[in-house]
Amino acid sequence: MAEQGERPSAAGFHLLAIPGSLRQQSVNRGLADAAQRVAPEGVFVTVGSLADIPLYNADVETAGPPEGVYAFADAIRAADAVLFVSPEYNRGVPGVLKNAIDWVSRQTVQTPLRYKPVGVVGVSTGAFGTIRGQAELKNLLAGSIGAYVMHQPDLMVSGAQQKFDDRGALIDPETEQRLGDYLAALVTWTQRVRAIDAIKALGGDGV
Ligand code: FNR
Repeated sequence: MAEQGERPSAAGFHLLAIPGSLRQQSVNRGLADAAQRVAPEGVFVTVGSLADIPLYNADVETAGPPEGVYAFADAIRAADAVLFVSPEYNRGVPGVLKNAIDWVSRQTVQTPLRYKPVGVVGVSTGAFGTIRGQAELKNLLAGSIGAYVMHQPDLMVSGAQQKFDDRGALIDPETEQRLGDYLAALVTWTQRVRAIDAIKALGGDGV
């Protein structure tokens, strides 16, 4: 894992950041936007949206998943790693995010999160910085989906009112620094996971 302040070489690395909130002035989207500014050199960050993903319905899936679901799955597939940036609702994963993950957990869109390196961070107005929602989301992604979830370090941002402006933009330098360190660690995590995959492909056990 990269130490604090260390910046791995990451030329051509593509990170998809997915805010778990649809709100116009979402502080979680503000953190995802900030990732574009503070990512290690060579890391290209795209901020996605869950706005075009309808509620999961097996009948709709059978008829053919909606365009928004295909686009979301394609964006995940194209990324080297995915960063979920989500609030917690009632101590858990917001419904819009759970719904989107349910859609892309399906074989109809080739389960693009399986074996995908992922990070989970979040911002709350309260004191706990989404710790409970993150635990649930990590468990879902690792246990059910089979994503390669980075468990350390973690990034919980509490007290959003002091760190974001009224349009949801991050204005706190310390949080920017912590986010930059987190992203550097996620790049390192992805490189390690891919190195282990490569060893396994050659017939080794990868450990
Ligand atoms: C919340 N919020 C919240 N915060 C928290 O720390 N723990 C929680 O369990 C909840 N539960 C919760 C439920 C619902 C339905 C809402 C709408 C909100 C507050 C939440 O952290 C706050 O609204 C954030 O600002 C939401 O993030 P965005 O939309 O600004 O990114």
